[in-house]
Amino acid sequence: MAEYTLDVTTGSMTHAGTFDNMYVTLIGTEGESERTNLTNFGLDDKTGKVGTYSVTSLLSLGCLLLLKLERDPFHESPQEDWFCSKIVVRTREEDETIFPCYTWLSRGETVWLRGGRATKAFEDFHPQLADQRRKELLKQKLIFKWEKYEEGMLYILNIQDPNAIPAEIRFSFSKAFQFKYLKEQMEAELKLKGLINSTEHWKSFEAMKGVSWFKKSPLSEYVSEHWKDDDFFGYQFLNGVNPFVIQRCSKLPANFAITEEMVKPFLANGSSLTAEMEKGNIFITDYKIMEGLPTRVIDGKTATVTAALCLLYLNPEKKLLPIAIQLGQQPSEDNLIFLPSDLESDWLLAKIFVRNADTIHNEFISHYLRTHLLAEVFTIATLRNLPTIHPLHKLLIPHYQHTLHINILGRALLFGSGRYLEKISIETDGQMELLRRGLSQTTYASLCPHENIAARGLESIPNFYYRDDALRLWNIINSFVKAIVPYYYPSDSEVSADFELQEWVTEIFYYGFLRNVDSGIPSSFQTVEELIKFVTMVIFTSSCQHAAVNIGQFDFLGWIPNGPLSLNHAPPTTKGQSSMETILATLPNKSSAGRSMAILWQLSIKYEDSVPLGTYPEQRFDEPAALQMIKDFQAELSSLNVAITKRNADLELPYINMNPTKIENSITI
Ligand code: FE2
Repeated sequence: MAEYTLDVTTGSMTHAGTFDNMYVTLIGTEGESERTNLTNFGLDDKTGKVGTYSVTSLLSLGCLLLLKLERDPFHESPQEDWFCSKIVVRTREEDETIFPCYTWLSRGETVWLRGGRATKAFEDFHPQLADQRRKELLKQKLIFKWEKYEEGMLYILNIQDPNAIPAEIRFSFSKAFQFKYLKEQMEAELKLKGLINSTEHWKSFEAMKGVSWFKKSPLSEYVSEHWKDDDFFGYQFLNGVNPFVIQRCSKLPANFAITEEMVKPFLANGSSLTAEMEKGNIFITDYKIMEGLPTRVIDGKTATVTAALCLLYLNPEKKLLPIAIQLGQQPSEDNLIFLPSDLESDWLLAKIFVRNADTIHNEFISHYLRTHLLAEVFTIATLRNLPTIHPLHKLLIPHYQHTLHINILGRALLFGSGRYLEKISIETDGQMELLRRGLSQTTYASLCPHENIAARGLESIPNFYYRDDALRLWNIINSFVKAIVPYYYPSDSEVSADFELQEWVTEIFYYGFLRNVDSGIPSSFQTVEELIKFVTMVIFTSSCQHAAVNIGQFDFLGWIPNGPLSLNHAPPTTKGQSSMETILATLPNKSSAGRSMAILWQLSIKYEDSVPLGTYPEQRFDEPAALQMIKDFQAELSSLNVAITKRNADLELPYINMNPTKIENSITI
């Protein structure tokens, strides 16, 4: 008689438990066990509990291949679903195999679990394993299908209702509740203040501060005090929520109509623009990507977004200061060059137009496209092509937690008819065109921070904390991936032979980058080295890069004059005519400002069940070597947290967006 002891763990989330009957069948190389009812008076499968059961067989089952877990279809208890985390199977000889499950089981549902070491398809010699693997992917491909977002855009999931995706990748009950509660709380506050439908403009900046009674952060307070300062304006290009536009300028673009005389007064004594460019002290932000995008009419006025150009100077005190702004790509008499010496309100207005272009660039390109949508592509490709026993499924799936849910929800709440993004300057077709342009410019190199920063000539600019933290994070993730990937792929030939892996990257190339060879995204892998870099990029994009653009949204953009998504007037065509009243009339009206602030708050807070980078609450790997690599990864992240905290203690404005304790493992909001 062979006896197997099973420890069955129920998930610790709300409503995970059940009183229903479950049945287990163990399948081994030498046969299969009886279908065994897991019953110990029905109380074991409570939330967070481990129930221990015994499964016997007349003869040894040999090497365990599969575990079949069935939920009784007939029961009268009100609880419908049960979340099984894992089942640990022990033999009399104390051999232990973990069968990760991490699945919600409905009544009558059956799941087949694989245990033990992660395997690639060509390592599954037993026909039953190969068959199960094939069936799992067939099922996944029926659930997760690609759908073209729009003509010329990447593909997304073909499901529009978050409740229609499998429960294990949906928001948890507690997160869904918190998300809904916050939304209703914010709407109630806006309604109470008469901000929901108000088309009035703010009478003063002081009045604007009263938009929320409770929603403040130390950084948002700082921004509301310093948003007019030139050095804070410059600082944000490096350490705000969009540090991806600025680049070193060694030659002035032909369409930026600046003369030496114009900017000489703002440079160090006796210096010239040419000399400062040669020294590497001149930088530029160019929003050409916004050129010609159709804008909408808001409250009877045509809204504006500018394809602005802004020149910046790194002064001897190492402050990055704007020294000239042109609010359009084509120089002309009407397209003025604004300078720090202009009337205060003219210069401030010019900076607000740049902030508007930068905020739109951040939300659409840096945030939505280059993190949310790309992570959706990585998630779908993984769910369709890599079965749960595949080493890369085990490695990557924690980095996709809740990503499909938030993307589906975001499309419904932000992009739908009458939704939030109908209030921004660019009209719906223009928003899609902006995403299309963004995608066509998204290269593999631009997603890898070392290459991205080098291409922009920003290796040595001082006080660039995003760069410092991003490069260290990339290196830490890369070290982890460099350890774990070769453990499962000891040679290049194993990479080329893994057809599931090849299908995975082919789908990413096809559906995420539309077979654009110029993107540099690989369509196949030949070497372990290529695979390591790509997997590092996937994890970095789905965690760190998203944190860089997401965490500080309320801090930096919650003060609406610093992050307006819509502007109500065209840029001035003459100087000396504006006033603070002109600026208030140009900025978003009360309802737009209130709604922006509320949404940014909702997107920036930390939710209860957030999982920090490198934390893997689900035990998917069974191999001690892989578990040790995870521990080493966590230790490195912990050291970085100490270093960043120490650095920040000496800064007037701490850079917190890339602290590993704040970065989530996946895009969840
Ligand atoms: Fe986000």
